[in-house]
Amino acid sequence: MEQQKDYDIFLSYRREGGETTAILIRDRLTEKGYNVFLDIENLNAGSFNTKLLDVIDNCKDFVLICSKGALDRCNNPDDWVRLEIAYAFAKEKNIIPIMLRGFEWPAEIPSEIAGLEYQNGVAAEKNEYFDAAIDRLIDKFLLSKSSKSGMKAVGTFVKIGLIASILEALIFYISVVLNAIVF
Ligand code: BDR
Repeated sequence: MEQQKDYDIFLSYRREGGETTAILIRDRLTEKGYNVFLDIENLNAGSFNTKLLDVIDNCKDFVLICSKGALDRCNNPDDWVRLEIAYAFAKEKNIIPIMLRGFEWPAEIPSEIAGLEYQNGVAAEKNEYFDAAIDRLIDKFLLSKSSKSGMKAVGTFVKIGLIASILEALIFYISVVLNAIVF
C-alpha cells in the first residue's frame, strides 16, 4: 500500500468493474495537480485496514466510483467499499459519487451509508464525456485545491501586468506625439 502522506482526495471503487476507471481518474486528477489516494494493491485478509481509514480521515474529498453493480455487495457489513463509505459519512467528508454507465442504486441501502443516493454527484455515462465529467468534478464538487491553481493565478497576474505595461507605454507614446504636434 502507498505510504501515508498528504492526500486530499480518496478514491473508493469496486475492484471488479471499477479499477480501470479509478486508475484513469487518479491519473487525470494527478496531472491536474491534485493529491489523490488510490489503493490498487491487494490488502491483507482480516480486519479492515486501519491505514485506509487514516487516509480517508486526512482527505477532504471522498470520490466514490459507482461502476455497474459497485454497491450491490454493500449489504454485507464487512464489504470494504461499504466500510469506506460509512467511515467517510461518519467523518463528514465531502462525498462525491461518480455514476458510470450501467450503474443503478441498489433497492436497499444500509443505514450507515443511507443518503448516499441523494448526494450530488457526477454522471460520466459515456466515454466521450469523460473529460467533461472530470472538469465538472473539479469545478463544482471538489473541496481540494490543485497545486497548479497557484501557478495559473501567477500566469494570469503576469499577463495582466504585461498588458498594463503595454498600455502605459502606448499612452506615453501618444502623449509624446500629441505634445510634438501641439507645441
Ligand atoms: C476498495 O477497497 C480498498 O481496497 C480500496 O480503497 C477500494 O475502495 C476496493 O475493494
